[in-house]
Amino acid sequence: MLSQEDNDLLTRVGAGTPMGALMRRYWIPAVFTHQIEKPDGPPVRVRLLGENLVAFRDTQGRVGLIDERCPHRTASMFYGRNEDCGLRCVYHGWKFDIEGKCVDLPSEPPGSTLQRKVSIKAYPCLERGGVVWTYMGPAESRPEFPELEWTMVPPSHRYVTRHIQECNWLQAFEGGFDTSHLAFLHGGTIDMSVSSVPSRYEVVPTDFGFVAGTGRDLPKQGSNEAEVFWSANVMLMPFHKIIASEPAGAHVWVPVDDHHTMLYSVDFSPDHPLTEVELKMSKDYHSIHTENIPGTDTAIANKSNEYMLDRDLQTSGKSYTGMRGLGIQDCAVQESMGYVADRTIEHLGVSDTAIIKIRRLLLQSLKDHTAGKTPPGLDPRSYRVRSARFKAPEGIAFADQVGARVAIDKAAAE
Ligand code: FES
Ligand SMILES: [Fe+2]
Repeated sequence: MLSQEDNDLLTRVGAGTPMGALMRRYWIPAVFTHQIEKPDGPPVRVRLLGENLVAFRDTQGRVGLIDERCPHRTASMFYGRNEDCGLRCVYHGWKFDIEGKCVDLPSEPPGSTLQRKVSIKAYPCLERGGVVWTYMGPAESRPEFPELEWTMVPPSHRYVTRHIQECNWLQAFEGGFDTSHLAFLHGGTIDMSVSSVPSRYEVVPTDFGFVAGTGRDLPKQGSNEAEVFWSANVMLMPFHKIIASEPAGAHVWVPVDDHHTMLYSVDFSPDHPLTEVELKMSKDYHSIHTENIPGTDTAIANKSNEYMLDRDLQTSGKSYTGMRGLGIQDCAVQESMGYVADRTIEHLGVSDTAIIKIRRLLLQSLKDHTAGKTPPGLDPRSYRVRSARFKAPEGIAFADQVGARVAIDKAAAE
């Protein structure tokens, strides 16, 4: 349970909010590279953290992300002409380059000084892992792009999709770190050997975010010390998860606004091109990926059709939900909580320990950031981590071993 005040603090992401300010310290996925592949091609609408923007690739192949509203009389730049190194508003022909500079203002008489005075909001962009990322924070605090493993492998080693969820980022994100739902919500869809309800929950703050560990006590073997099987899921600030799976996986919960979240889902391998079998598993929509209505980010199974719930399937013993696909099942329950879950009326149990700890940690990060402290994850090398699963003697505290278990350099050296 949270107070209304804390719930607002964690969920609101618009400009000027504490969480919005914290998120704006990081690089944020805006659009797929392939959506604006061609120089001078059609611009694309982008909504991020409650801001309406337009992305375009200019004549020289550089990507721009500018305010959707023309600073002249606020017409949409989406309808603009993308030509000769800039986007030109079709209302009166004002034209802006990727840095937001006004480079032509044909509607004013010669000698006008207006062109020098006017500009459009523009955010810097770079492309990594087939995605255009942007930085929406203060220019002087812009970090280097983090060493996020899935963005550093060749395109053949990764499969990335995205779909929109009609709910606040936090309840989608919390779903990603809620391990106790696996045995229920995803029952019949995932391997049940990894989905029994865990008995231990740890959340360890790190220099990149945190690691959420869930442990299952293993049956004691003879006189050996009792062991715990740990799943260590990595959270990278401000909204990334690296999934412990084979091939590896990742999620990014990008707030579109307070009521919508763009979920990027990734399967990748650090060391080999994804095999046909692996790709088939990714594209089989019972996975974390969803099959979308062509040309949109909306899954075919969505709120408007009750996620194509099949009650016969639900009672058949083969599927707990009667909905097909991990991504759809998550989407259904997370959206069913409303646009912003009302955390003042929850009843949390022991199995929500991780969620409680994660909220506390996020609130602490907000407080620290507001007080002027540098938030975690801004050192690009701090992202060199992977999720892990391992057995360890019961006597060793999770916090004492997790650093070495998730560090990529150490894992690769083993
Ligand atoms: S509104 Fe864009 S040029 Fe006039
Ligand atoms: Fe899930």
